[in-house]
Amino acid sequence: MCGITGYIGGRQAAPVLLGALEKLEYRGYDSAGVAILEEPGGRLFVRKAEGRLQALAGLLARETPRGALGIGHTRWATHGEPSDDNAHPHTDLSGKIAVVHNGIIENYAPLKEWLQARNVVFKSDTDTEVIVHLVDYYHREDAGRSGIFGAVKKALRRLEGSYALAVISSDFPDRIIAARKDSPLIIGLGQGENLLASDAPALLAHTKTVLYLEERELAALYRDHADVFNEDGERIIRRPETIEWDNESAEKGGFAHFMLKEINEQPRALGNTLRPRLKQAADGALDIHFDELAGAALAEAKRIVITACGTAYHAGLLGKFLFEGLARIPVEVDIASEYRYRNPLSAPGDLFIVISQSGETADTLAAMRLAKKAGGRVIALTNVIGSTLAREADFTVNTLAGPELAVASTKAFTSQLMCLCLLALSLGRDRGRIKGGEFQRLVRALQRIPDQAGDILAKQETVQKFAARHFNKNKVFFMGRQADYCVSMESALKLKEISYTHSEAFAAGELKHGPIALVDPGTLVAAFATQDALFDKIVSNIREATARGAKALVITWEGERAFNAAADEVFFIPKTETPFSPLLSIIPAQLFAYYCAVQKGNDPDKPRNLAKSVTVE
Ligand code: F6R
Repeated sequence: MCGITGYIGGRQAAPVLLGALEKLEYRGYDSAGVAILEEPGGRLFVRKAEGRLQALAGLLARETPRGALGIGHTRWATHGEPSDDNAHPHTDLSGKIAVVHNGIIENYAPLKEWLQARNVVFKSDTDTEVIVHLVDYYHREDAGRSGIFGAVKKALRRLEGSYALAVISSDFPDRIIAARKDSPLIIGLGQGENLLASDAPALLAHTKTVLYLEERELAALYRDHADVFNEDGERIIRRPETIEWDNESAEKGGFAHFMLKEINEQPRALGNTLRPRLKQAADGALDIHFDELAGAALAEAKRIVITACGTAYHAGLLGKFLFEGLARIPVEVDIASEYRYRNPLSAPGDLFIVISQSGETADTLAAMRLAKKAGGRVIALTNVIGSTLAREADFTVNTLAGPELAVASTKAFTSQLMCLCLLALSLGRDRGRIKGGEFQRLVRALQRIPDQAGDILAKQETVQKFAARHFNKNKVFFMGRQADYCVSMESALKLKEISYTHSEAFAAGELKHGPIALVDPGTLVAAFATQDALFDKIVSNIREATARGAKALVITWEGERAFNAAADEVFFIPKTETPFSPLLSIIPAQLFAYYCAVQKGNDPDKPRNLAKSVTVE
């Protein structure tokens, strides 16, 4: 969604804000803006520009504002088209108060009418603008006696919906007021300076010491300290925490895009996910242990319910195969936005696994809260320590993939899968479904996965060349059976979101039940084949497609010859145990999506209409 930031300290605010917005741009990039308290003069300098952040940077290079307090915003439009006027910050009629906001004010229409009846003239079509006018209204109502903090507190009581916001006023040149509800907000504590941001990478260049603002809390940031308050304005003591990620892991590190970097980081990310959970006994036997799940009583679960969105949902679908196959425990998987509205049945003994890279996805959080209300135990699988999901769930498993900044999720997905493989294996062992020797064999197979992922990446040029030949296909269909079907779904999502190619996934056996009507000579069919017992069936499905003019690609085990005659091209992946094949087979598909996007001239890190972290419904 949108990214917000703020700075108060001894340095010039403009470059600090621009640097932070650069790190937040993945959250939205249709316009950006800053408000800086000018020195001398004490007036608010506000500049906003439609388009990418460079447009704003250009404006600020031409007339650099001087001032050490400011707020900034990068936008993903919800209300009102991308334009200079709709870009944040929004200001009150006097131009003394400025607001940046991430989230949606659901009751903005009646609030706007209420304000218009009090002679407020609106300058934008956004929901956010009501906030700044409300703050101004309450500020004037008590003649400024309760200060800008008091005015913000009163304004917040009128708002329905979600917000992370920051407010500055030229009448209070020593502070920034911030607040959050259902949208993330982190305060960075520096030496003689303090910052705020929607996400940690925006703070890392300045500090690793942070305060996480909780639901409905407010904060006042001064140059030398920051105070946290509850919604009634009472002070709260909040212990600072340390972010473990380093600034370097949030940089491109020589890669053309974050997405390519993150795809290539998978061997390391998978190793980081795996290592802390593997224990080796003196006799060399391996064991799996999640310290963070002590007391979670996983083995007592009667049923597992997994909810998530998008790519994380695909990881959840694969989780079903893993838990049902390895631990023989029934699993239900639901898209979080469906789960929250379908009045789901829950039973005592249900264990919920909620998966989210960001830990901030609005639908996923709502599903988790519903599960908790129904009395379920919730395990969060997330990549962001300190995220709302991590803090509200009963137990949190950190996927440890490191910061993922490209909009299209890659290493977070494989790390989620690695966690699910480990959990399913340990549950299978605890429930007596996997015996000693088999357990050791499977764990050792997982141990080899990071290196095997590296072997695939070492051959990425093959995928690049293939993409150069096929990037302009008008349709790409991915198909497979069982887990390969779920990998197909993830592959199709990846390709459509960054290359804008029409792409779908089919259970290979379903092709002839309808989708084959779409196959024509402009179609590329990519089949995943890692379920050895079903190879003959996949060959038949490929022939059904190629007989109608489609080109066929197969992704299968190293050395497998079953598809040589039927397919136009075969990509090989190193052999692993069948349940773990998605950890490897998805990598060529991620690369294919990336290189198709680049061939088409798209920016894979910032695909159109999308944003990382969907914090609104
Ligand atoms: C696709 C993608 C999205 C996210 C989805 C859930 O590449 O990134 O589909 O997977 O928006 O996000 P998280 O995992 O942050 O809850």
